Amino acid sequence: MRTKGADFIWFDGNIVKWEDANIPVTTHALHYGTSVFEGIRAYSSRNNLYVFRLREHLERLQQSAAVYSIALKYTAEELQGATIELLKKNQMRQSCYIRPLAFVGQHGIDLNVTMDSPTHVVIIMFPFAKYFKEEGIRACISSWRRIHDSSTPPMAKAGGNYLNSVLATQESNRNGYEESVMLDRDGNVSEASGENIFIVRNNKIYTPHIGVSALEGITRDTAMEIAKNLGYEIVERPISRTELYMADELFLTGTAAEITAIVNIDGRPVGDGKEGPVSGRIRTIYSKIVTAELADYNKWLTPVW
Ligand SMILES: Cc1ncc(COP(=O)(O)O)c(C=O)c1O
Repeated sequence: MRTKGADFIWFDGNIVKWEDANIPVTTHALHYGTSVFEGIRAYSSRNNLYVFRLREHLERLQQSAAVYSIALKYTAEELQGATIELLKKNQMRQSCYIRPLAFVGQHGIDLNVTMDSPTHVVIIMFPFAKYFKEEGIRACISSWRRIHDSSTPPMAKAGGNYLNSVLATQESNRNGYEESVMLDRDGNVSEASGENIFIVRNNKIYTPHIGVSALEGITRDTAMEIAKNLGYEIVERPISRTELYMADELFLTGTAAEITAIVNIDGRPVGDGKEGPVSGRIRTIYSKIVTAELADYNKWLTPVW
């Protein structure tokens, strides 16, 4: 969001010009990370624009807000309408990223955020294409441990959580990797800085259960449904670091990353060092689903035009 991206922003029920969407420096969220947000994609296809799993994202926003008693003045239904209205106002026809953000405003310096604290909601959007290379990325295990439910719950998609992801990303990029995979407090595989992780071993798919240290990813859920429909068995259980080294395939799932293979972990090639067949199959189906090429999955799409 370095640049404007789109002319208009939805701000507390009004559509305002990008230049006019400003907040005071005393905003609580700026000081303490008291915000919750979503990352959503819309895909341009067949002369239309399709928002992917909009409802589920907005419901997760509600749930994240509830964890921190951040009062959301708008229902998921209202925010859904606002998103479509803004896409239209911005004349958005190309694939884009949509960022709803709810934050605590002029609360003062104390930390007792309650349902009576002042809050705001904005929806921002900008054109967006690939996040990672399609052919796969190099990742490392971070020396930073993933945040834990006992301190800052990762299941709530809160602004403050991302300081943990910033540290992990800085470290991995500094060391020449494209992404970091974090272990949880107990040393089991948790998730990447902005994605969930899957392992393929002997044609079976494994992913860490959503226990204490990962976001309940919507792309994770999508990938699991695709895999089940392809006939794969999926096991949710704790995964050790060593299993990453022994995997036939590794892949990440996330709204931004979509389905991205990890082809090298900690300097070791995964399988034969290329995207594997299972990851490739799931990625191909995913890209067809989001562009409305598979009617069975159109339930997940909201057409804009
Ligand atoms: C920490 C983290 N884990 C997982 C994900 C993947 O979630 P989703 O598939 O809902 O985008 C994200 C992205 O939102 C994330 O930031």
